[in-house]
Amino acid sequence: MTVSRKRPEDLRSHRWYGASDLRAFGHRSRTAQMGYSHADYLGKPVIAILNTWSDINPCHTHFRQRAEEVKRGVWQAGGFPVEMPALTLSEPFQKPTTMLYRNLLAMETEELLRSYPADGAVLMGGCDKTTPALLMGAISMNLPAIFLPAGPMLRGDWRGQALGSGSDVWKYWAEKRAGNLSEKSWEQIENGIARSPGHCMTMGTASTMTSAAEALGMTLPGAASIPAADSRHARMASETGRRAVTMVWDDVKPRDILTADSFDNAITVVLALGGSTNALVHLIALARRAGIPLNVDRFDELARRTPLLANVRPAGEFLMEDFYYAGGLRALMSRIRDLLALDARTVEGATLGDAISGAEVFNDQVILPRERPIVASGSLAVLHGNLAPDGAVIKPAAAEARLLRHRGPAIVFAGYNDMAARIDDPALPVTADSVLVLQHAGPLGAPGMPEWGQLPIPKKLLEQGVRDMLRISDARMSGTSYGACVLHVAPESYAGGPLALVRDGDTIVLDVAARQLHLDVDESELARRRAAWRKPEPHFARGFGALYQNHITQANDGCDFDFLEGTAVTPEPEIH
Ligand code: FES
Repeated sequence: MTVSRKRPEDLRSHRWYGASDLRAFGHRSRTAQMGYSHADYLGKPVIAILNTWSDINPCHTHFRQRAEEVKRGVWQAGGFPVEMPALTLSEPFQKPTTMLYRNLLAMETEELLRSYPADGAVLMGGCDKTTPALLMGAISMNLPAIFLPAGPMLRGDWRGQALGSGSDVWKYWAEKRAGNLSEKSWEQIENGIARSPGHCMTMGTASTMTSAAEALGMTLPGAASIPAADSRHARMASETGRRAVTMVWDDVKPRDILTADSFDNAITVVLALGGSTNALVHLIALARRAGIPLNVDRFDELARRTPLLANVRPAGEFLMEDFYYAGGLRALMSRIRDLLALDARTVEGATLGDAISGAEVFNDQVILPRERPIVASGSLAVLHGNLAPDGAVIKPAAAEARLLRHRGPAIVFAGYNDMAARIDDPALPVTADSVLVLQHAGPLGAPGMPEWGQLPIPKKLLEQGVRDMLRISDARMSGTSYGACVLHVAPESYAGGPLALVRDGDTIVLDVAARQLHLDVDESELARRRAAWRKPEPHFARGFGALYQNHITQANDGCDFDFLEGTAVTPEPEIH
């Protein structure tokens, strides 16, 4: 990477502030209106702090304070901080799913940076989709940008037991439905599971994607693992602000940092963490924004050589707070350094090798040694076959081993409401060997490809002690979920993919070792069903939903909007 130190008149913001015309007069007089004098901003890098804080986002409740700490760092380094609120994507509250809006935040990020006098950016995110969305927009705008991860919340607590976001909700909900947990206990869990600022503290999508951002080189070293409530998080925020200013002078831009190697690093890290399957969709979208071809099969290739070492729920026992005290992501990366491209660049202007130099593991129970992995390889598997011509994914480590090679009759649900209405019906002809199939849960069908992929186990089977069964859908699954769930089936059923052709009683064959997902029905019968298939009515006649349904790509292509992919140049705005 060539480091070229800029002069003040080279700054992008100079076009707004440095001219002697009428418009620049307006920009300066309006900056004066905000209480700033020339000494505060003229000739200084303007650092846009994109803050996804909101009263409705529990994972970002500390972001108002953190923005102040970022500003402190920006001022100290001689920059001019400008905080800009950006769309929050609050996983628990936004419906039908935050995934419907990931690309909207990505567009907002790119256009905020383009249309205002930003020289560089600090991207404040963490709750699931905020991380990929902010990074996607910043990659497309390609100004110097650094990501500030929200940090995980503290461990949950119930009667002295550690509770994990999501994972323990699914676990205790199943016990409650099986009649093994009282209302009072359930209420105690409700009040103890989320007890500090920060994102989910299991290895869910949030921890997966903030860790991926660090492995991509887009955060300060060690930033992704610090718990949100730890004072070290506040100090990291200030350091991030300081670094953003230097990055502008050194002109370190996302596409200088991101290469095919850095994406391999991110995928390898996600696999060693036992990270969320959502990483496939997000990393493919990010790579394509950077002009780097990436497809689902690369995840499978890297999974075959990567051990799962993070003993963090849902694949393991511990939580992100423990992971941080054990050394955090730098320590984990030091354990797999032979699998990483250590010369990949980072926002620090140095290499990933420099970023993990001196990192140590302090607790071998949490970050396992290479000779004692949770699984030696294949923590994630990409499947193909006549049921998923463009691919599907499963997390074998999160499933009961007996189901990884399975043949069983399908029970088909035409959509979420159909599933919810019938799943607990005592008359449902379901056994532990059945294969639950959910249609119309993909990017177009749901819409928004929600996290419906962990279909509930029918109550009558729960009561018999069944805790896992094979489930197949074109949905995603929360990274905090577990079970034999085949996800991201592409093309999706709503678009006429083979999942749409499955009928009750059809035999489905899964063979994870062979990476096969097969619908055991004669091709002539499938052709007959295909000819009878009718394209469903679109969900939206207007608005953002209409834009979404006209341009969303399938899961194996990253679910970006087709017109946002790639690196074609968008002109800088005219200033007249
Ligand atoms: Fe925000 Fe899980 S709800 S990260």
